[in-house]
Amino acid sequence: MSRTTARYHEPAPQENDAVALRRVIAGRRSVRKFTDRPLPQEVLDDCIDLALLAPNSSNLQPWAFYQVQSAAKKRALIDICLGQNAAASAAELIVVVARTDTWREHARLNLEHFPIQPIPKLVQQYYRMVVPLAYTQGPLSSAGHLRRRVSRLSSRFRPVPQGPCSREEMRLWACKSTALAAENLMLALRAHGFDSCPMEGFDERRLARLLDLDAHALPIMVIAAGERAPDGVYYPQLRFARERFVFKV
Ligand SMILES: Cc1cc2nc3c(=O)[nH]c(=O)nc-3n(C[C@H](O)[C@H](O)[C@H](O)COP(=O)(O)O)c2cc1C
Repeated sequence: MSRTTARYHEPAPQENDAVALRRVIAGRRSVRKFTDRPLPQEVLDDCIDLALLAPNSSNLQPWAFYQVQSAAKKRALIDICLGQNAAASAAELIVVVARTDTWREHARLNLEHFPIQPIPKLVQQYYRMVVPLAYTQGPLSSAGHLRRRVSRLSSRFRPVPQGPCSREEMRLWACKSTALAAENLMLALRAHGFDSCPMEGFDERRLARLLDLDAHALPIMVIAAGERAPDGVYYPQLRFARERFVFKV
């Protein structure tokens, strides 16, 4: 039977550079002391653009990046980061936020900007039906709890996704994608010759107040960024034996 539907083809890029990637990944360290050199805005913009290319759940892009640049807010943020030296010496501080409330609007944007017209039926169904079914939680997570009961029962007969079925699980859902974007950002900074320190050592309540974040926005990391001071990395990198983490099953 011949196929009538034209399929989109995007062949794998031929220009690959594992050596450069290894240099960037292995060269990234958490830097606790930066020099006074400013981080050019165009470099930061490029790094954030690369962060925005991170893979993410259902392409719903549940993240936000706050560049804290006003002197007063920056001072307050350093304090909120417990005065950590990485924050105090950084040229830039970027707060990476996971959002649990933008998925509906982003489902709509996926349809509005879908790069192929007419939009394939499957894609339309996905954003119009599957996404609302999967992510609507309802008052007191009532929809989520109902979904949990149904999916647990269905799972006895066939594989069924088991979540997110609560507001807490939505936070986890948003954090997964947002953490990938944060890593992209840090690797991009390294590729540009700058460095970073991801920080979760901060007062979440005060940070939410500083940035006027509502309950649907979860600040997951503050990323300090700038030029590494020669003594900015405190210890050699340590990772445990791969057998501890890698399993062939
Ligand atoms: C989620 C997360 C939170 C972190 N929080 C802090 C922090 O508050 N302060 C800090 O100095 N480093 C922080 N780090 C950096 C880790 O300590 C560091 O990644 C780890 O020790 C490994 O060192 P490396 O990044 O140089 O490989 C954090 C890293 C991650 C991923």
